Amino acid sequence: MTDLVIVGAGGFARETAAAATAAAWRVLGFVDDDPALRGTTRSGLPILGPVDSVVALDAEVVVCVGNPRNYGSRQRIVDRLGLPVTRYATVVHPAAEIGAGSVVGPGSVLLAGTVLTADVVVGSHVAVMPQVVLTHDDRVGDYATLGAGVRLGGGAILEPGSYAGAGALIREGVTVGARSLVGMGSVVLHDVPPDQIWAGNPARLLRNAFTEEFTS
Ligand SMILES: CC(C)(COP(=O)(O)OP(=O)(O)OC[C@H]1O[C@@H](n2cnc3c(N)ncnc32)[C@H](O)[C@@H]1OP(=O)(O)O)[C@@H](O)C(=O)NCCC(=O)NCCS
Repeated sequence: MTDLVIVGAGGFARETAAAATAAAWRVLGFVDDDPALRGTTRSGLPILGPVDSVVALDAEVVVCVGNPRNYGSRQRIVDRLGLPVTRYATVVHPAAEIGAGSVVGPGSVLLAGTVLTADVVVGSHVAVMPQVVLTHDDRVGDYATLGAGVRLGGGAILEPGSYAGAGALIREGVTVGARSLVGMGSVVLHDVPPDQIWAGNPARLLRNAFTEEFTS
């Protein structure tokens, strides 16, 4: 059994704690900068200290922060911590399936029911919520986030730092650009350039990103 500390204590962090426990990690607790959380527990696990205290702990680490309003925050924390790649765990729920030829990078989390069919590449520090389906030859860049139930056709690409909202469908061979977000339930038929917010069926440009999402 390997010890794990989770950075963040919000919803995704607690979901990851459950997945890691199911996958036989010993989860020591969370680190979080919210002073209101000091001395408390979340999901029965202690808040061990502020985020930077994880550097000195003897455990593997996974960074589990970020929501649709600040989905750049995971990368900012990883950059700030400056930990060697060997400190980062890859957490895969036992009910996720990783098909032949597929790889998942350090710091990434796959929640229950996720399926990678064949020859899928998932980068580092990627957050994959439950029931996501990634099909043959998909590429998911570092720091991407995939909401529950996202489905990618074959050979689709989520570039680094992008966000696919819950239930989004992405057509085969389509690319979602770096740091772009496609809204929940969107049907993405065409390439999305970097740094944009698209939504709807068919998905269309709503506005530019790279404002609060990457600076707050
Ligand atoms: C796309 C998104 C970021 C837009 O948020 P926002 O900038 O606050 O935009 P608003 O809610 O003000 O909506 C702006 C317009 O886009 C439309 N819109 C927003 N999200 C939409 C979506 N997912 N699909 C279709 N239309 C959408 C709204 O109806 C509104 O249209 P109107 O101007 O004609 O009334 C957000 O709705 C979204 O989908 N976030 C992802 C949520 C998610 O996946 N959560 C899972 C967490 S695990």
